[in-house]
Amino acid sequence: MIIEKIKLKNYRNYDNLEIELNKKLNIIIGKNAQGKTNILESIYVLSLTKSYLGVNDKNLIKLGNNYAILEADTLLNSGSKKFKILINDNGKQVIIDGKEVKKLSDYVSNLKVIIFSPENIRMIKEGPSIRRKFLNMEISQISIKYVKLLMNYNNIIRQKNEYLKLDNKNKDYLDVLNDEIAKLSVEIYLLRRKFLDNINTFIDKIYYEIMGMQGLRIRYISNIDYFEDKKEMVDRYREKLDKYLEKEMLYKLSLIGPHRDDFIFVLNDKNIALYGSQGQLRSVILALKLSEIELFKKSSDDDPILLLDDIFSELDIDKKNNLIKYINDNIQTIITTTDINMIDEKLVKKASIFEIQNGKLFPGK
Ligand SMILES: Nc1ncnc2c1ncn2[C@@H]1O[C@H](COP(=O)(O)OP(=O)(O)OP(=O)(O)O)[C@@H](O)[C@H]1O
Ligand SMILES: [Mg+2]
Repeated sequence: MIIEKIKLKNYRNYDNLEIELNKKLNIIIGKNAQGKTNILESIYVLSLTKSYLGVNDKNLIKLGNNYAILEADTLLNSGSKKFKILINDNGKQVIIDGKEVKKLSDYVSNLKVIIFSPENIRMIKEGPSIRRKFLNMEISQISIKYVKLLMNYNNIIRQKNEYLKLDNKNKDYLDVLNDEIAKLSVEIYLLRRKFLDNINTFIDKIYYEIMGMQGLRIRYISNIDYFEDKKEMVDRYREKLDKYLEKEMLYKLSLIGPHRDDFIFVLNDKNIALYGSQGQLRSVILALKLSEIELFKKSSDDDPILLLDDIFSELDIDKKNNLIKYINDNIQTIITTTDINMIDEKLVKKASIFEIQNGKLFPGK
C-alpha cells in the first residue's frame, strides 16, 4: 500500500498542506513544534478515524476554525482509492472515493499504518487502558470482525452499567445481557489472543537481533479462561459472570471482561515494566512494532505504512542499523527528525526530503 498524496485543511497547525510522498522513503525535517508529528498523526487519523494521542476530534481542527478536512490518495493492491475525513462541530464524516461510508467499521482497516513514536514507551509502564487501546487499534486494522465485536461489546457493557445503576433491578434482564456478553467476550478474547500469539512468533527473534538477548514474550492477562472448545469457554465464562453478579450490583459496575484485559512484556519470566532499563523498554517497543510489520504483511495483501516519529535521536547506532534493515524498499516509510544528521546517509540519499516550518512545507534540499 502506498500513499501518493496527503491533503490537509485546517488540520492542527496547517491551513493548507499538500504533500506528494515518495513510494519508498520520506523524511520530514523541522525544528520543534513546527508540525512534524501532526503530519504523521493525520495519516493515522485517515487510517483509524481518530488520533493515537487520545485527544478529542475537535482538537484536530485548527484553532479558530470550525472544520477540518483530511485526504489521502492511495494506491492499493486492488487499485487506487481516495480516503477523506471531514471533522466539524457536529462530528465527522468518512468518505471513500467520494462516497460517504456510514459505518466506521467499514472504513477502518482499509489503510494500514504502524506508528512508532517516543510516546509508545508509556505503554509498558502505565495503566492497562493504554495497552487495551493498543490492542483495539491494531487488531481493528487487520480484522473488521474485531471492530464490529468491539462496538457491540462496548454497547452492551454500557447498557449493563446503566442498568446496574438503577435502584430496582431485575435479575432476569441482567441474565439476558450476560448471555450475550459471554459470547462477545470470548470472541474478543480469541482474537486478542491470536494477535498476541502471532506477535510472540516474531518478537523474541527480533528483540534478540536488536539487543542480543533472548526470552522476550508478551503475556496476555484476562478474566476469561482458555479451553480448546469454544462452547466450553463461553459456558465457563458465563458461570464466572454469575459469580460476580452480586458484587457488580453492589458496585453498580461491570467488573470483569475484555474491558479489563491487560498484557505484560516478560523477559525471561520477569516483568519488564518492573525490571527493564530505559533502553530495554525502548527496544521492546521497537521489537513490538517490527513484529507488527511482519504480522500485518502476513495478514493482508497490502503492506502497512510505517511512520517513525523522531525516534532516531533516541536510538544508539546499533539499534538504528537494526531498524534500517527493516526499512527495506517494499514498505512505504515516513520518518520525522529535527536533525537530518541523525539519519544514516544511505537512507537520506534515497529518500524524498521535506522541510516543515510553522505549518508550511518546503521541498528539502
Ligand atoms: N488544533 C490546533 N490548532 C492550531 N495549532 C495546533 C493545534 N494542535 C496543535 N497545534 C500546534 O502544532 C504544533 C505542534 O506540532 P507538532 O506536534 O507536529 O510539532 P513537531 O514538529 O512534531 O515538534 P517536536 O519536534 O517538538 O515533536 C504546536 O505549535 C501546536 O501549538
Ligand atoms: Mg513531534
